[in-house]
Amino acid sequence: MIYISPSILASNFAILGEQVAAAQAGGANMIHVDVMDGVFVPNISFGFPIIKSLSAHFSIPLDVHLMIDDPDRYVELACTSGADFLTVHIERLADPKKTLQKIRALGAHPSLTISPKTPVQSVFPYINYADMILIMTVEPGFGGQHIIPETLEKVTCLREETERRGLRGYKIEVDGGIRAENIKSAVDAGANVIVTGSAVFGEPDIPGAIKRLREAAQQ
Ligand code: DX5
Ligand code: ZN
Repeated sequence: MIYISPSILASNFAILGEQVAAAQAGGANMIHVDVMDGVFVPNISFGFPIIKSLSAHFSIPLDVHLMIDDPDRYVELACTSGADFLTVHIERLADPKKTLQKIRALGAHPSLTISPKTPVQSVFPYINYADMILIMTVEPGFGGQHIIPETLEKVTCLREETERRGLRGYKIEVDGGIRAENIKSAVDAGANVIVTGSAVFGEPDIPGAIKRLREAAQQ
């Protein structure tokens, strides 16, 4: 199964609810929520009140991606605000195992991510403590960038490792620069959770864009 997780970073915040409803109706499996603090990444997006509002209003799982300097300080607030999947960057964790266990204890699915310059082997010791690993396919910070093709080699390497451990269907997410033209290469590399910002919320027909992505993933 391929999960499509549209990122609201590319949405029109003046009509956020309508756009999320359109994505849900169009068959999105999750909604990707990019929290940026202007320190870990050179951009500021929005914070936990948005997660709380979306969680109270929609049943679709929220796939929250924390791009912040000190994630340990905020995992509890992210979970109590309504994150269903909570992704934290290994580059900012003192003890990844402890953070992932804390997220699970708070009732969310723990997820670990690496930026493009971080080797994929760095997540191997934590695969069993996470329900998903996110391989960033662009430098975190901005929507609408071009994919860094070499990052897909990390996806393949991670998929080989999860298969070797007998973890069938383990969630491997890709995020950044994924569009109809390259979604198949991400899926062929081994990704099964696909974040798409501008290729969904940047399009006038949101359900149509999701349908096109799904078709392109299968061709
Ligand atoms: C980048 C964010 C992504 C971004 C994806 O820092 O983590 O989730 O919103 O946007 P697109 O699909 O437009 O590259
Ligand atoms: Zn993201």
